[in-house]
Amino acid sequence: MRAALAIVTENPNLKIAIISKVYPIRSHTVCAEGGIAAAIKDYDSKEKHAHDTVYGSDFLADQDAVEFFTAKSPEEINYLEELGCLWSRQEDGEIAVRKFGGMSAPRTVYAADKTGFYIMHSLFEKTLQFENISRYDEFFVTNLLVNDGKTNGVIAIDQKNGTLVVFEAKAVIMATGGAGRIYGHSTNSAINTGDGIALSYNAGAALKDMEMIQFHPTTLPNGNLLITEAARGDGGYLLNKHGERFMKKYAPERMELAPRDLVSRAITSEISAGNAASGPHGHYVNLDIRHLGAKTIREKLPTVRSICLTYLNIDPIKNLIPVTPAQHYFMGGISTDLNGNTTLKGLFACGETACVSIHGANRMGSNSLAECLVFGHSTGLQTAKYAASNKHTDSNYIKSKLEKENQKISSLFSASSPFTVFQIRKAMQETMDNHAGIIKNETQLLKGLATIKELQEKAEQIRIKNHSLVFNNELTSLLELKYMLIIAEATLTSAIERRESRGSHFRSDYPTRNDQQPPEHTIINEAHGKMAIAKAPVKINQWKPADRKY
Ligand code: FUM
Repeated sequence: MRAALAIVTENPNLKIAIISKVYPIRSHTVCAEGGIAAAIKDYDSKEKHAHDTVYGSDFLADQDAVEFFTAKSPEEINYLEELGCLWSRQEDGEIAVRKFGGMSAPRTVYAADKTGFYIMHSLFEKTLQFENISRYDEFFVTNLLVNDGKTNGVIAIDQKNGTLVVFEAKAVIMATGGAGRIYGHSTNSAINTGDGIALSYNAGAALKDMEMIQFHPTTLPNGNLLITEAARGDGGYLLNKHGERFMKKYAPERMELAPRDLVSRAITSEISAGNAASGPHGHYVNLDIRHLGAKTIREKLPTVRSICLTYLNIDPIKNLIPVTPAQHYFMGGISTDLNGNTTLKGLFACGETACVSIHGANRMGSNSLAECLVFGHSTGLQTAKYAASNKHTDSNYIKSKLEKENQKISSLFSASSPFTVFQIRKAMQETMDNHAGIIKNETQLLKGLATIKELQEKAEQIRIKNHSLVFNNELTSLLELKYMLIIAEATLTSAIERRESRGSHFRSDYPTRNDQQPPEHTIINEAHGKMAIAKAPVKINQWKPADRKY
């Protein structure tokens, strides 16, 4: 939506279609809780924000991208302020900020603990103002139109009647979020199946740093609902089963506000050392926010309280919250530059789908909402320029592509099927949980990859029993499963290739960072039906790789 708003401002003559498999304000950004990072206070600066981001990324972020990002994020806060976004405020009416992990200064702008919800609604309402922004809600994209190496639109199922529809376009922007659902234990919505990443890879775009998976330290053991980092930012403690604030052993200065990779690994170490509590949903540590008091919890952390009341029947004003780490975010994605250009002409990408890269090996909490806005904006501007000079594609190509797509979808229907989507999805999620978790090694990763390849073969044999044309979830779930299996393969393949530990990528067989050579990105391209791995240098400007201590 941010990209669409940038396009209409840049070139009001262009027509924009926002195509989404869900109603747009049900997109996963609506779940973002704790806040959005921007250096808006006098004590802070874009340089400090950039330094924290590069250091937090374990020196895998491209520093030109980070500098661009931290310079632009305050402008995006102002933009949302103009749209009427309901920020939490100080007594004097100024926008309030809170501190998140790894920050040298508080810079997370927030709206209680429902920040994504308020941002999404502000953007959505603004898009309604423009007649040349059309929405195609609940259309499920099955393929890209790529002719002569140029992207010229998409094909999608109109889920309301099951027909395939061609959207011919001068340019396409992928803003489809992450793929957290390749894991069983994830904070992500069920819709986060990496569709845009897989579609772009299939069409020939390069992927970057797919091994870099973020695990959020604090999620509920039953179902992995997110308990926002803001709970620690506002002063919460993490306690092991002995009631000890164990973070003093792992990050003596920052304690609970160390970056997420470090806190998640610390919890894993506490579990291995037998210091974690144990319950019906596995091991956990406790988050204590009782000392913040009822007023603060009600005003600043209402979602945390409501999640605890609803799903655990406990009140965090009086009780400890059991928490355990779970998959939260993809630092990798479709490789782009600062303006959303991918390696495929006419295809642009921004947000979690893309890897610019500003997060490197570990994203700082609250940088992702800012990323959506900063790079949504820059990608919109770039796309508008590109679209103004690009032509539509050949109608014969479109006709034959649509015919093939109809055949592809029809071939998925049959009365008998050796496997179900549910079986293969469950097996994939268990494989990723067990083989590509917080701590990995080569044996585990290779075994995981072999299993994913077997599951890909099985997924090809799945046939759909439900022949309904109206919201056929069995069909869309199968397509999502195939997308996820591509992402799972890319994640494992890249993780095998990165023989070092860096940020969230911790290999017990290579437990240190490789400083013998300059840091490199992992690049994946499709070549003859297989994943081909390459490396690309990380852009280092002012900050040379140094020890990362918190
Ligand atoms: O903990 C959180 O509120 C998550 C924020 C983020 O992922 O940036």
